[in-house]
Amino acid sequence: MCGIVGYVGRSEAAPILLDGLRRLEYRGYDSAGVAIVDGDKVETRKCAGRIAELGKLMAERPPTGTFGISHTRWATHGKPTDQNAHPHFDATGRLALVHNGVIENYQALKDQLIRDGDRNFSSDTDTEVLAHLIGKLYDASMAVDPGSNGKTKASLPNKKGRLVEAVRTALRQVIGTYGIALVHQDIPDFIVGARRGSPLVLGVGKDENFLASDVSAIVAYTRDAVYLNDFDVVAVERDKFEISSVAGEAGNYQLSKVEFTDADIKKGDYPYYMLKEIFEQPGSVRDAMRGRLSHEECTAKLGGLNMSPAQLRDVGRVVLTGCGTALHAAMIGEYLIEQLAQIPTEVEYASEFRHRNTPMTRDTLVLAISQSGETADTLGALRESRRKGYRTLGICNNVASTIARESDGGVYMHAGPEIGVAATKSFTSQVAILTAIGLLLGRMRHLSTSEGTRIIDALEALPDQIEQVLKLSDQMKAIARKYASVNGMLFFGRQFNFPIALEAALKMKEITYLFAEGHPSAELKHGIIALVRPDLPSVFITPDDAVFSKNLNNIEQVRARKGPVIAITSGTGADRLAKIADDIVTIPAVPDYVSPILTVIPLQLLAYHLAVELGRDVDKPRNLAKSVTVE
Ligand code: F6R
Repeated sequence: MCGIVGYVGRSEAAPILLDGLRRLEYRGYDSAGVAIVDGDKVETRKCAGRIAELGKLMAERPPTGTFGISHTRWATHGKPTDQNAHPHFDATGRLALVHNGVIENYQALKDQLIRDGDRNFSSDTDTEVLAHLIGKLYDASMAVDPGSNGKTKASLPNKKGRLVEAVRTALRQVIGTYGIALVHQDIPDFIVGARRGSPLVLGVGKDENFLASDVSAIVAYTRDAVYLNDFDVVAVERDKFEISSVAGEAGNYQLSKVEFTDADIKKGDYPYYMLKEIFEQPGSVRDAMRGRLSHEECTAKLGGLNMSPAQLRDVGRVVLTGCGTALHAAMIGEYLIEQLAQIPTEVEYASEFRHRNTPMTRDTLVLAISQSGETADTLGALRESRRKGYRTLGICNNVASTIARESDGGVYMHAGPEIGVAATKSFTSQVAILTAIGLLLGRMRHLSTSEGTRIIDALEALPDQIEQVLKLSDQMKAIARKYASVNGMLFFGRQFNFPIALEAALKMKEITYLFAEGHPSAELKHGIIALVRPDLPSVFITPDDAVFSKNLNNIEQVRARKGPVIAITSGTGADRLAKIADDIVTIPAVPDYVSPILTVIPLQLLAYHLAVELGRDVDKPRNLAKSVTVE
């Protein structure tokens, strides 16, 4: 949430910063701004609204200069207004700072600054308090009499060193999370960055360097990156950088190659990233499985788990955790691991799990699932599990993300960048990987070679089957048009497809803003049936599986109350539903444990087409942002 881009080099900073912000817009889009230093003057442009608004402002009065910082905001403290847009300045207006995260003790820090005579605050943000604090500490260090305390002028740190020290001293007083970047008009070609709990990456170029919340902002300029760790402070110049810690110790770093290119984050001919990402699923599911299935041993090979066969055999309980769409994948994972490996498995909302004293056994394996690998609640749950000594694994898409780095092992999705705020391809990759984990754990227990082979065959058949399902896009568009005037939708499913009802309802809510609920089909009669009426369609996810006839009964109950029914089915389902469903969508028949990977796709498309029909901004739904780094 919130995007930061910083640049120091020989080119004009403005177009690079603006371009980077456009690529990070999915992280927040309620206001944006830049601060660029030209000579000894810091120029800022900022406003409420989308990056396009900022672009107009910058076109009217272009800021010049070869180093600067920028920000796209998802509001936490203070409304999305021009005043609250970042960058924020210190009391002298010479230091500009952008921030991603939440300074929890900002009020106490602000009160102290006010007591010390600083009343010059112009926004409601926590960020401005940090800018003032750093500015005050820097100015105080510059005011030190070079001759005092026996120090000569030469032995005192230069301006750069003093600014870094002021940042460290301020951050030691901060409670909360931050990814920050700042510039000072008195210190040419110099940016300071720091992180705790909010991601920050250093892009290393030739005679130019970058700071960004996410590599997608800078991959057009460099693919060499240093993923900063919590409590890192980085001093960035054109041709060098230095990493240290908030405590003042020298830091270690590793240079990594970004695994995707600029071309991978282009929308191409698609009108929205979400549609592009839905259509990428044959490839992303294939990539999630690539090199990970062994026909010879009839099992999955997941070396990144960093667990010996004995350790895998000793797993007595699995806890799956995540948020939103990742949590829905976890819920399918529960069915999968219990069915394939017969290991007791539970799903926990990461936000609840981290604050709860859940009874755990020593043989519990905790799996944190997160596309971004940065979600604050999931990271919190992971850290809490580690603190208590449980083995943790991460299933992440973003390489070198915090969850990936802090887990004992894990599996990367390799789904490529997911930019649409509504998660789509990451979900199917997560479910495919959870199937592989179920297979691996099962084959270490009771699962036979023939069962193992059947599961591998089912997984390997998926990309082609997804291609077939994608051909339903026009049918889903027609259904979306038919129901474009409804006020909401209900979604029902059983077993492996109950979490799909939840996921379909989430997609619908997120991008159409319609009321939507997902439930296990059988829960209808326990209360939800009171909602059924002619203008509220019920979507039943009912492939031709062992619970098909049970779903059929529930559909009859809805029909008896004049509720319209849309059915997602397979095999002979269409024939049996012909007389009772208003709309029937048929997907290929597959074993029940892989069916969610197919059933979810028409429902992603339904939400997408309905959102387009309703004129919504599909990739940037209101109030939302991708990569939720606040609690
Ligand atoms: C829904 C959606 C969110 C995310 C959730 C977790 O479309 O995108 O619900 O799934 O915020 O995000 P990650 O997977 O990055 O931890």
